[in-house]
Parts: sequence; structure tokens; C-alpha cells
Amino acid sequence: MERTLILLKPDAVQRGLVGEVLSRFEKKGLKIAGMKLMQITPELAAKHYEQHKERPFYQGLVNFMTSSPVVALALEGIGAIAVCRKIMGATFGSDAEAGTIRGDFGVSRSYNLVHGSDSPEAAARELELFFPEGTVEYEYAAFNWIYDPVEELKK
Ligand code: RTP
Ligand code: MG
Repeated sequence: MERTLILLKPDAVQRGLVGEVLSRFEKKGLKIAGMKLMQITPELAAKHYEQHKERPFYQGLVNFMTSSPVVALALEGIGAIAVCRKIMGATFGSDAEAGTIRGDFGVSRSYNLVHGSDSPEAAARELELFFPEGTVEYEYAAFNWIYDPVEELKK
């Protein structure tokens, strides 16, 4: 099992797309291990996007991410990081394939609805930033039907 940090960005919240976007992840088979509506501070945005600090779009990105609340999600599943990136689609809606979240709900080259961790190292770092209090431990009954319990869920 793997965990990833997903952010439903300010445009998703302000456009009333939280339910739509969250349901894409749920229906795919990701377990919600953590979920909260929160206002990102400039300090948190700077830590989260520190790899982009020198890029020309950095200040606009921080302004966007702190302009309005986001929904932070800790999602869990086998290969969760890659699975989530795939259903999110390419970075910008104008390039993203139809059938992906960004491909179906956006056209902008700045606002792109959703963030997903891009590696296990990034996921661990970002989950600690957004869920320092930890996540909620519970058994997700659906896993026994989302995965083959004998082949995929055996310890
Ligand atoms: P994310 O980190 O948000 O999941 O997106 P990503 O991996 O697909 O894209 P990344 O290269 O990490 O860029 C982070 C975010 O910065 C904004 N961006 N703007 N104007 C630009 O050229 C530009 N490039 C990137 C986007 O909001 C992107 O999601
Ligand atoms: Mg990224």
C-alpha cells in the first residue's frame, strides 16, 4: 500500500468541483485516509513548492494556491502515486487527455484543479507538511473487492 498527497486546488473549490473530482479518486479505488478543507499559508505554499522556487511561474503559483481554501487528501492504494497522477492527466487542461480530471474539467495553463505527489519521497514529505497530525487509521471494506485479496492484499 502506498499513500499520496492530493490537493483539490482553489479553482476546484471555487468552481464547485470538489465532489466531482473527489469522486474520480474514490471510484477508482483510492481509500481516503485523510481529508480536510484548509487555507494554505504563504509559508506552507513555499515549502510545498520549494522545488519550483527559481521558476518564473513560482510567485503566481504561490499566490494562486493561497488565494482561497483547498481540500487536502491523503489517499491510499496499491501504486497510489502513479494511479492518481494518471487519472489527473497532464499538467495543463489544454494538453490533458479527455477522461482525465484535468482533461475533462479545465482548459487553463495556470489553474489545473488538482495536485498529486510525483514520487514516494515527495509523497512522504508532502503528507508530513499537510497532515503533521497524522491520518485516520481504519479498515476500508471495499479493498477486498477493489483488489484480489489472495493475490494483491496478502501480507
Ligand atoms: P502539481 O505539482 O501541482 O501536481 O502539478 P504537476 O506536477 O503536473 O506540475 P509541476 O511541473 O510540478 O508544476 C507545479 C504547478 O505549477 C503550475 N505551473 N505553472 N505557468 C507555467 O508554466 C506553470 N508551470 C507549472 C501548475 O499549477 C502546476 O500544477
Ligand atoms: Mg508537481
